[in-house]
Amino acid sequence: MNIGLIGSGGREHALCQKISESKLCSKIYCFPGNAGTSNIAKNIDVNILNFKRLLSLLKLHKVDLVVVGPEEPLVKGLVDFLDKNNVKAFGPSKFASKLEGSKAFVKQLCKLNNIPTAKFKICRKKSQVNKFLDNNKLPVVVKADGLAAGKGVIICKTKKQVLKISEEIFKGKFKSSNKLVLEEFLDGEEASYFLVVDENKFKFFGTAQDHKRVGEYDRGPNTGGMGAYSPAPIINKEIEKKIINKIVKPTLLALKRKNEPYKGFLYVGLMIKKKEPYLIEYNIRMGDPECQVILPRLKTDIVKIFINTIKNNLKKTKIIWKKKRSMTIVLCSKGYPGIYKKNKEIKNLKKINLKKDEFIYHAGTKSSENKILSSGGRVLNITALGHNFKKIRTKIFKILKNLDWKNGFFRKDIGWRVININENNRR
Ligand code: AMP
Ligand code: GLY
Repeated sequence: MNIGLIGSGGREHALCQKISESKLCSKIYCFPGNAGTSNIAKNIDVNILNFKRLLSLLKLHKVDLVVVGPEEPLVKGLVDFLDKNNVKAFGPSKFASKLEGSKAFVKQLCKLNNIPTAKFKICRKKSQVNKFLDNNKLPVVVKADGLAAGKGVIICKTKKQVLKISEEIFKGKFKSSNKLVLEEFLDGEEASYFLVVDENKFKFFGTAQDHKRVGEYDRGPNTGGMGAYSPAPIINKEIEKKIINKIVKPTLLALKRKNEPYKGFLYVGLMIKKKEPYLIEYNIRMGDPECQVILPRLKTDIVKIFINTIKNNLKKTKIIWKKKRSMTIVLCSKGYPGIYKKNKEIKNLKKINLKKDEFIYHAGTKSSENKILSSGGRVLNITALGHNFKKIRTKIFKILKNLDWKNGFFRKDIGWRVININENNRR
């Protein structure tokens, strides 16, 4: 079958690679893809939020199944639109996508269903912010309600900062919503738990830990993610049970009760504090760069998983994982997440000979006149599999050394939480 993949990041290159390994796949079209996907698929340049144009291209290329990588088209209802136009698509509906599209929606759902999460207040005006500040300790987390391209969460150490940011959000800094959520700050260890979900069943789809801050040892501003590893040893069997019973099951049941069942990948963003999981956020898609460490560990045909999810047949799908660990390090343009230069050639890329269990997933890249150029802040994801996180990281460093990209930088401490400790505590 012909498969259409929506998106252009490292997550989509990893999805594209996995889809290309499926016996069920004849041809892949990426909308719009990147320089990496162009080696295994046909890239088609299109604005992915222009649903009508997208539909006509999907029909033109006789695409049988669409897989949506990023959140924005999902939140805007791409899956509902394709369904109505008889194109099969993997991903949640517009309603279910509110799990990522509205922080206020998720917090209310948590409150109604006793789901453990940080104490919060949904605010529409300054007096509500002041009231929360009077009754809670600092730091306070300010969250824009709607999608904010990763820029909508600010951890504030002073009341002045909370008031300033709140004011900006009320005035419409983020077009998606003028509401905000104030939250108590949860101190703990963050981890991500993934599921694939259909109307009757959900299945485990890996764990990972991301590194959000730009600087070593988690310092500096937040980014889209500087590196990740899988599995996340902190999510042991005991914690997993709590995640499923206290968080996942009540959420999926609440959506079912609204006649809006969830379908697709579900990313459960957690803070683990004193062996108790708290929901920080839901994402309605695979993580980026978490996808780049989870998919290389997957043995089962991913297209079979997509088809069976759409048919509500997940129950019959056995999902099998390699007994190996994985890590990815993100090579970024110098200056990211601030201002950085684009269109810088990555000269040595073609000279790199990858061995078994080594991958380079492209993120912000494009090809031009037979050259690979950078086109974003996060440029390449260097990924490797193995049995020991430290050795995996050494393999990745070797590739980065050979790449020797003068315009880039990367965090040298990815995996610091698990290297030298916990090496034998494999899932
Ligand atoms: P979110 O988009 O909600 O995941 O927030 C982005 C990042 O902010 C998370 O990955 C956490 O590192 C941090 N964060 C969000 N909410 C909290 C909280 N209540 N306590 C501590 N850190 C938080
Ligand atoms: N790595 C964080 C995210 O995908 O949202």
